[in-house]
Amino acid sequence: MNQRPVGIVLNGVTGRMGYRQHLVRSLLAIRADGGLPLRDGTRLWPEPVLVGRNEAKLTEIAARHGLSDWTTDLHAALARPDVEIYFDAQTTQRREKSISAAIEAGKHVYTEKPLASDLAGALALTRLAAEAGVRTGVVADKLFLPGLRKLKRVIDSGFLGRILSVRGEFGYWVFEGDWQPAQRPSWNYRAEDGGGIVLDMLPHWEYLLSNLFGRVRSVQCVTATHIDRRWDEGGEPYQATADDAAYAMFELDRGIIAQINSSWAVRVFRDELVEFQVDGTEGSAVAGLRRCRIQHRAATPRSVWDPDKPDGGDSRGVWTEVPDNQEFDNGFRVQWEQFLRHVVENEPFGLDFAAGARGVQLAELGLRSAREGRRVEVPDLG
Ligand SMILES: NC(=O)c1ccc[n+]([C@@H]2O[C@H](COP(=O)([O-])OP(=O)(O)OC[C@H]3O[C@@H](n4cnc5c(N)ncnc54)[C@H](O)[C@@H]3O)[C@@H](O)[C@H]2O)c1
Repeated sequence: MNQRPVGIVLNGVTGRMGYRQHLVRSLLAIRADGGLPLRDGTRLWPEPVLVGRNEAKLTEIAARHGLSDWTTDLHAALARPDVEIYFDAQTTQRREKSISAAIEAGKHVYTEKPLASDLAGALALTRLAAEAGVRTGVVADKLFLPGLRKLKRVIDSGFLGRILSVRGEFGYWVFEGDWQPAQRPSWNYRAEDGGGIVLDMLPHWEYLLSNLFGRVRSVQCVTATHIDRRWDEGGEPYQATADDAAYAMFELDRGIIAQINSSWAVRVFRDELVEFQVDGTEGSAVAGLRRCRIQHRAATPRSVWDPDKPDGGDSRGVWTEVPDNQEFDNGFRVQWEQFLRHVVENEPFGLDFAAGARGVQLAELGLRSAREGRRVEVPDLG
């Protein structure tokens, strides 16, 4: 079978996301399936060029997966004519400089979110890419979670009627790192290193809300650093300077109110690590990573507040599970495939830098709302 090789620089491939989700679960998984089938019958064959700072880690990853193309010299990698795409999964603060260099080298760019540390940086990248005429994409993995894809199906069916409100609960306990190792990198908890749950999670909530329900028109956010002392990867204590919880309320188009709690200091008493309840005039839905359950107005139990009586039964049992009805591939891979088809076959792809900039804008305005203790309007970026 004819192959169409596409050189892809993977920068930050030694990190959690770069390695597991993007290299192994996406690009190598596409190769393991014989490449990505294209319209003309050929198969797109990703050729990863691993880029990082640490030679030993790069050689080890390359050897583990039978790869040989790696370098610590980003500019040399970007100068190669066989490299068509630059991908960035570095820590957020390093992203803008590397992406600018990739655009200047004429590469298409796909990147982890957030696109940049602030809106000015995100808009500068959006402009630079448009001027250079390169294709862009920003990871929006939550849209591809099975539970949320089923929720989208429910919304599109009209089952919910007029949507009134969205309640989201995201989070879990991230160990401080002293008596049990932390399960997230320590830079996430240092503002000076680009950490913070607002910058991490509000970009997700922006694309999720705007793709499923409507554009976000205002934000009101309270943040906290609940745990201010943590232990890093080397077992050293450090001061946690970044927000580790964000309690946010958003007003969306059509009067929809969304309220989303994000926290790394909450113990899970939920079915999934993220869950959204959507209430509409005709029905409701509760969706998470994998599951989506619905309740129609005709099946809504009559709740009556009476503290003298034991609770009126099994409120969860009256919900109906939405069936999968299809195989759900890894969400990161699905989005990679869409981006690759966008680059080589001109398929439409809406999750571009302009969309990514809206996510950074919402994070920035969420932080401003928290700092100033007020509701902040979200202007259209045009
Ligand atoms: N889409 C998602 O669900 C999701 C989830 C987690 C993280 N992310 C994003 O992915 C990016 C990477 O996050 P991660 O959790 O993989 O982080 P990580 O710490 O595991 O990896 C960071 C990568 O950047 C490199 N790096 C470059 N300069 C660095 C520096 N000065 N300090 C530390 N590392 C440096 C590291 O070598 C590593 O390859 C972040 O921008 C983050 O916002 C996205």
